[in-house]
Amino acid sequence: MKRILSGIKPSGTLTLGNYIGAISKFVELQKKRPEDEFYLFVADLHAITIPQETALLRKRTRDVAAMYLAAGIDPERTVLFIQSEIKEHAELGYLLQCFTYIGELERMTQFKDKSKKGETGLSSAFFSYPALMAADIILYDADYVPVGEDQKQHLELTRDIAARFNNRFGAFFTVPEPLIPEVGARIMDLQDPTKKMSKSEDSDKGCITLYDDRATIMKKIRSAVTDSVGIVRFDPENQPGLANLITIYAALSGLSPAEVVSKFPGPGYAPFKDACADLVADAIGTLQKRYEDVISSGTLDAILDRGRDVAGKVAFKKLEKAKQKIGLGRKR
Ligand code: TYM
Repeated sequence: MKRILSGIKPSGTLTLGNYIGAISKFVELQKKRPEDEFYLFVADLHAITIPQETALLRKRTRDVAAMYLAAGIDPERTVLFIQSEIKEHAELGYLLQCFTYIGELERMTQFKDKSKKGETGLSSAFFSYPALMAADIILYDADYVPVGEDQKQHLELTRDIAARFNNRFGAFFTVPEPLIPEVGARIMDLQDPTKKMSKSEDSDKGCITLYDDRATIMKKIRSAVTDSVGIVRFDPENQPGLANLITIYAALSGLSPAEVVSKFPGPGYAPFKDACADLVADAIGTLQKRYEDVISSGTLDAILDRGRDVAGKVAFKKLEKAKQKIGLGRKR
């Protein structure tokens, strides 16, 4: 039996990128691996590394949990919880900072990007965030962590931190492996296909959120930047905008990019764009309906309470042992 764990930050609005790269993959894994254990959490402690508005953060935290359920997470099979409700995350996060080098954190792309943009006033927690993410994972001895491509570097650092701790104190933490999807690991911005589709991006037109209505989705996909070649081909290098749409289509339909291409012999992109827009609007429409059902069922809090209790026990035990290994406190 393996343990599979993942998380999403409740900052900004959930996007089609989050859905394709992470949420839908988690649901698939849960269906495909009936013998395994699943842990899934809303990473609210990560969200506050950047200032958040109080009421909005609280709402988004619930929304992310509800969206996971709407996407098909089975609460009987998945321990679903809110990160900040288990204080061991923050505590192990601090301990792991003591096993993480400043140079390693400085090399993280997310940090480099922000500092390159000249952003001032970044919190020290934003800098040390990867140590907290490592704690989220190894606190539960997770074997596999399904994430999109942008989290790969954080997973590599997590593996290094876990191995470093084990080298020093003897085998203790499981060294986790990332699971990065073959199709859809990096959905790009519809207006600028060199940039990742992101919830904090200013250009609204390039980003489809899970709360967009059908008309908005149709408009965003129809106006997605493509090229002047006019033939539907999967060529990420020369036709990146089109390749991104093909990837979206492939991920949502379960077809391979080559199969998608063969459905649209052309010429022109309009029929393909329309079909892609329909597919996305249908998928998001279904998600929104189920999201409303989850909210109106009134079961969310009970599910999250149970998740907190189950995950809390595992976390408590592991952290106590980690502290003993290090030599903290009086108890052996
Ligand atoms: P976050 O909240 O930025 O993203 C959540 C998940 O969505 C994936 N993702 C994408 N996949 C494909 N295309 C995109 N455009 C796209 N945008 C986002 C991300 O790769 C991720 O899998 N640090 C994490 C949250 C976290 C976490 C963890 C994840 C905290 N602790 C422990 C796994 C395990 C984050 O900020 O993800």
